[in-house]
Amino acid sequence: MTQDELKAAVADAAIKEIESKLEKDTVLGIGTGSTANLFIDRLEPLRDRFKGAVASSEASAKRLEGLGIEVFELNSVGTVPFYIDGADEVNTHLHMIKGGGAALTREKIVAACAERFICIADGSKHVTTLGEFPLPVEVIPMARSYVARELVKMGADPVYRQGVVTDNGNHIIDCYDFMITDPVAMEARINAIVGVVTNGLFAARGADILLLGKENGVERVA
Ligand code: 5RP
Repeated sequence: MTQDELKAAVADAAIKEIESKLEKDTVLGIGTGSTANLFIDRLEPLRDRFKGAVASSEASAKRLEGLGIEVFELNSVGTVPFYIDGADEVNTHLHMIKGGGAALTREKIVAACAERFICIADGSKHVTTLGEFPLPVEVIPMARSYVARELVKMGADPVYRQGVVTDNGNHIIDCYDFMITDPVAMEARINAIVGVVTNGLFAARGADILLLGKENGVERVA
C-alpha cells in the first residue's frame, strides 16, 4: 500500500470510531494536513448528522465550509467530544510531534478542549524516540533570533522556516538533530523560553487513541 492509501485507511477508521457517537448538537474538533483532509472529505456524507466543526487552521476551515459543514469559533463552543488530527511522529505513549503544516498552536488549543484526541497516522509516523522529524517551534517574529540561540543551548540545530507565516502571524523555527527522550519535560522547557508561542511536542496532552495505518490493517492503540 502507498502512504496515501494508508492515510485513507486511517481516515476511514476514524469515521468508524466516531460515527455512532454523532448527535445533532455535536461539534467536532478538526486538525490540519493531508491525513486530516482525507478525514474532512469523509465527513461530507455525514454532515446532516452533526452540528459542525471547530478547525485548527484557516485551510481546514475553508475545506470544511466548502463541503457545507459549518465552522464555529472555539470560544463559542467550549469543549469538543473529539479532536481528530494527523501527526508528524507518534511514539508508543501517544506523544507526538506536530506542526509540519505550521498549525501547531491552534492544533494544541483545540486538542486542549477535546475530551478525546484521535490521532490518525500512516505507519511511517510511528517512532521509538521522537525527534527524527524536526521539531517545529512557533515564535513571535521579533524573538526569532533569541529563541534560536536558546534552542542551540538546549542542543538543537534551529532552522528558520523561510517564507512561512502562521495563521497567528508568527514564524516557525524547526529544530534539527534533536532527539527527545523526555517529551513532557522538553515540551515545558521549550515553552518557557520567552517569545515561544508553543512547540510541536504534544506530550502533556497526547492522543487518547491512535489509529495507525499498516500493511495488514489499521492498528488501534488506546
Ligand atoms: C500540521 C500537522 C499535521 O497533523 C502533520 O504535519 C501531519 O500532516 P500529514 O497528515 O499531511 O502527514 O501537525 O501542522
